[in-house]
This record gives sequence, C-alpha cells and structure tokens, in this order.
Amino acid sequence: MKVIIRDDPATSAKEAALQIAATFHNEPHGVLGVATGSSPHALYAALTALVADGLDLSGITVFALDEYVGLDPSHPQSYHSVIDRDVTVPLRLDPSQVFVPEGNVASAAHAAAAYDSAISEAGGILLQILGIGTNGHIGFNEPGSPRDSRTRVVRLAESTRTDNSRFFATPADVPSEAVSQGIGTISEALAIIVMANGSHKAEAVRDAIEGCVTEESPASLLQLHPDVTFYLDRDAASLLRLDDRARDGRDGEWSARMWCTGSSASMSS
Ligand code: GLP
Repeated sequence: MKVIIRDDPATSAKEAALQIAATFHNEPHGVLGVATGSSPHALYAALTALVADGLDLSGITVFALDEYVGLDPSHPQSYHSVIDRDVTVPLRLDPSQVFVPEGNVASAAHAAAAYDSAISEAGGILLQILGIGTNGHIGFNEPGSPRDSRTRVVRLAESTRTDNSRFFATPADVPSEAVSQGIGTISEALAIIVMANGSHKAEAVRDAIEGCVTEESPASLLQLHPDVTFYLDRDAASLLRLDDRARDGRDGEWSARMWCTGSSASMSS
C-alpha cells in the first residue's frame, strides 16, 4: 500500500492523473473504474487537462462503482448523470463504452448480478478510482459489507444519506438504497487509487491505512490488495502516524505496512 501526501488536492490529483495516463498509454483499450463524489473531482480536472494536451482515452471502457436505486437516469444527481458530466464528456470518452449500474427499482437486483459479468467480459478493471466515505465505505459498501461481496443492491447507512444530502433539495430526497460493486468486485481491479481530502476524512483514512483489517471498516480491506495508492492532502492525512515522517522533511511517499497486530492479513511493502 502506497501513501502519497501532498499539500493540496490539486497536486495529488495531478500525480494520480499521471498514473492513470501511464496505465492507459500502455493499454489504450483497457478498462478504467470510476467513482462519483467530490473526492475525484480534481483528478478528473487533471485528466481533462491531459486529454486537452493530447492524452487519448477514446479507446478505453469505463465502469462506474455504483448508482442510487429509484432515481431516473436523467435526474441530475443520478450517477448516470454525474458520470456523464464529470467523466464521459470532459474526457471525450465513447458513451457506448461507459457503463453505470442500473438503478431501476424493478430490475436493479437482476442487472446488478449481470454487472460483474460485464466487467469480466470487458477484460477486467485495470485501474479503479475510489473515494472514501466518512464511515469508511468504498463504493456504497457500508460497514459490515462482506469482503467477498459482489455487485448487489445495498441499503445506505443513515450517515451516508446525511453526508450525501448536500446534493439533494431535502434529506428525505436521498435514496435509501443503491446498487454497488461489492468489495470482492472492487478487489479484482489490478490497481486501485484512493482519493481523499479534508479533515472530515482523516478518521476514515487512518482506519483504512493503519487500522485493523475488518469488514466494519470497508476501506481497511484494501490493505489486502497488492497495488493500492492513497493520494491524500495534509488534512486527510493528519491522523496518520506516517505523517510524522512528512514533517521530518521526506517527500511524502511511503509504503504503508500493517499496523494492526493480531490481524491474519499479510502485507507486502
Ligand atoms: C458516495 C459514493 C462513494 C464516494 C463517497 C464519498 O457515497 N458512493 O463512491 O467515495 O460518496 O464522497 P465524497 O468524495 O463527496 O466525500
């Protein structure tokens, strides 16, 4: 697990964008996994700048992590709309190669089961972009999600509905269910990058990187993955013991190790 801490979100986003550019320069028809939320915004802006400078992503296929159940795809806060706005249009992607889980109430469960097969048939995800919820969720895998879970309909934690109410007219408008790639699905990506900024993410980031590996903290399960890079600003990294070394003048990059004694998980640098 690699941890990159920079002074501001724009700087870490540029570095994450370069990682993505290098991956898809080598694999121009590869599969990218994308996340919604505010955390990847600066990353999408940095990627958009690279595209304007000549990076060609037109051959890639994209799979989104999740979608609310019960919002029409045309709703401005549906993840169909968000991905179109934040990813497909600015990155000049082929819309027919961009996939978002189906959130229609009647067919969501059936469509969710087919989503993992569609990812496999596309060749599997080369690189997955993640944000992290304040409760440690990834995608919409709330605390308690099984580590081998697949894409499925999930119930949102009340804290998540509260966090996401800023995007809706009233808190009651936030859907109570979503379709989300499972932890097992996400873990099959060859590489994962996690974007997190701000002091409100500091606890979730600490638990993910230095906490015990537990389904109660879904992002901690990323410690079991062989190729994960966290891109953090100083505030999001403020509760990490790793950050002590940043103040020693090192350049803000570490290989995290397993901090939680008693875990059965093994960790490569
Ligand atoms: C939503 C999404 C997650 C995202 C999280 C954090 O719940 N399903 O994929 O990581 O929000 O959002 P933000 O980046 O806005 O804090």
